[in-house]
Amino acid sequence: MKFFLDTADVAEIADFAATGLLDGVTTNPSLVAKSGRNFLEVVKEICGIVSGPVSAEVVATDYDNMLREADIVRNLAPNVCVKLPLTMDGLKACRKLTGEGTLVNVTLCFSAPQALLAAKAGASFISPFVGRHDDVGFDGMDLIEDIRLIYDNYDFATEILVASVRHPVHILQAAKIGADVVTAPPAVLRQLANHPLTDRGLTQFLADWAKTGQTIA
Ligand code: E4P
Repeated sequence: MKFFLDTADVAEIADFAATGLLDGVTTNPSLVAKSGRNFLEVVKEICGIVSGPVSAEVVATDYDNMLREADIVRNLAPNVCVKLPLTMDGLKACRKLTGEGTLVNVTLCFSAPQALLAAKAGASFISPFVGRHDDVGFDGMDLIEDIRLIYDNYDFATEILVASVRHPVHILQAAKIGADVVTAPPAVLRQLANHPLTDRGLTQFLADWAKTGQTIA
């Protein structure tokens, strides 16, 4: 399973990338606004830190202007992945851009039929939003299971990128289903390493080690 960071915070990205565990980054207009940075500048900077795909979202809603913005964005760096909304114009733009060899992440997916359309449009990634799905009373993981089943039925190459991840259990469930990628806020990815018994065990080992009076040198 690939791990993407869902943030436009360059310091967080550089810090996590140093672990060697980071496969890519996703941003969206809200995350760029939160960063306070210029969109094109921050995307270019992130692309210099991470060698994997960096999703950068267009804000136009019509086909022609989506393509115009996508052209600016994809020229920032070779690892830019153009993020397009799951609308008919977005799907049409997806087909055009992937036909030209550009990576495309189709975002704001809330149903399996939407995901089917994105795969038919040649999307590199489909982003189902599990947390927002949970928020309105549907189990976001049911959606991931359905998409996995459909994509496997037809051998679609589109990668399932589980988005709107709120906690480590989302990642656990996504991994059990066989999703290809999760994108999560830095704090959630870091939480994966935490366990109270690990902390307690380490404290005990260090206390016992201190009693030996030894050093490793
Ligand atoms: C992913 O690409 C989205 O930008 C993101 O996961 C949305 O998450 P949210 O629902 O927490 O805003």
